[in-house]
Amino acid sequence: MIFPKEDKMQGQALKRREVIRRGLAMLVFSPWLGGSPWLEKPRLSEGLSFSGAKPLYLNQNESPYGLPPRACQAAIEALSQAHLYPHEHYVELKEKIAARERVKTEQVILGAGSTEIMTMAINSFGKKGEVVMAAPTYFDFEYYASLAGCRMKKARLDKNYRHDLERLSAAVTSRTSLIYICNPHNPTGTVVGGQELKLFCQKVLAKYSPLILIDEAYYDYVDDFSYESMISLIREGYHVLVIRTFSKIYGLAGMRVGYGLASSETIKTLEKVSTNFASIAYPSLKAALVALEESNFLQQVKEANARGRKFVTKSLAEQGYFVLPSQTNFVLFEIEGEAKQWAQHLEKLGVYIRDFQFNNQNWLRVTLGRQEEIEIFLNRLKQVKSSYLKLNRLI
Ligand SMILES: Cc1ncc(COP(=O)(O)O)c(C=O)c1O
Repeated sequence: MIFPKEDKMQGQALKRREVIRRGLAMLVFSPWLGGSPWLEKPRLSEGLSFSGAKPLYLNQNESPYGLPPRACQAAIEALSQAHLYPHEHYVELKEKIAARERVKTEQVILGAGSTEIMTMAINSFGKKGEVVMAAPTYFDFEYYASLAGCRMKKARLDKNYRHDLERLSAAVTSRTSLIYICNPHNPTGTVVGGQELKLFCQKVLAKYSPLILIDEAYYDYVDDFSYESMISLIREGYHVLVIRTFSKIYGLAGMRVGYGLASSETIKTLEKVSTNFASIAYPSLKAALVALEESNFLQQVKEANARGRKFVTKSLAEQGYFVLPSQTNFVLFEIEGEAKQWAQHLEKLGVYIRDFQFNNQNWLRVTLGRQEEIEIFLNRLKQVKSSYLKLNRLI
């Protein structure tokens, strides 16, 4: 087995009363209720029983392969120094990222996940004018932009469920202060080619001066040869901010580390709305520093993910679903009937996925778990489909 075993907590069943107490506390005090739908589903701790079986969380695009063992070890060791503020390690991580991406250290900003940098961009640029984005787009971006009171303009995806760069261009005006593009796109998993996207940015920036935020959260999973990072535009001096995260292929979602790259002036502007040096814990920084070096581990995760993606895409297509070609660690497919109902039914069977509705179509998005998890999901999906068909007297 190339990957570390899952959390040691797994399998330690909690006592029944404790389960009920925690469950009630969750319902009463849960910050998730009414909060970001990213976390809308109450997360039962590992080991809590769900109709006798462990629930399967395939709803947040987390890596099922965990973090690199050396990164985990580094985080544990860092605890003995956790009484010290982490300033110097912030600098160390920034330097390492800068060297890797061939930019200056002052062109790097760190955040507690890329979400924090996204919100900095919303608060410092988005609020000044209008925000242009795709519809649908990564839900949290839209959520934080609406929380900040931003005026939003949305452009539908193209017929292949990719960003429609022409529609996006048409939506941009002199009032546009922020454009958000996640490439690969969430929730569809599709990508737009590097050349197309570069041209889009160059054309828009030749005419107007918004900040173009390119979210590359799923960058590391992409196989498509036409795909490119937009960091090259930053090196060339364009008004572009690229955000990346350690939450996906690096397996550090719970550690909360992300970064952004832009011109040093843009980084300074972002820092005005950030709590510089205050949001990432020392063990998280240490884990990220080590994880960056674990290229073998990352390659293995990438390959395992690609195998899972191929298997899920093929299996779903064989079951008759319309499946979008994904370049990420999740797959989106269309279903008949109400996506919410399917998702709720799957939850009852212990499988958490995400439901979407757009273009008058209903969709389910499943995170690529390990092979055995994927198989459980596919089985449960068959059950849900047959009850749906029976309910609607289609069989
Ligand atoms: C497109 C996209 N951007 C950003 C994020 C947030 O990642 P982080 O954990 O770095 O805040 C996610 C998380 O799912 C995502 O899907």
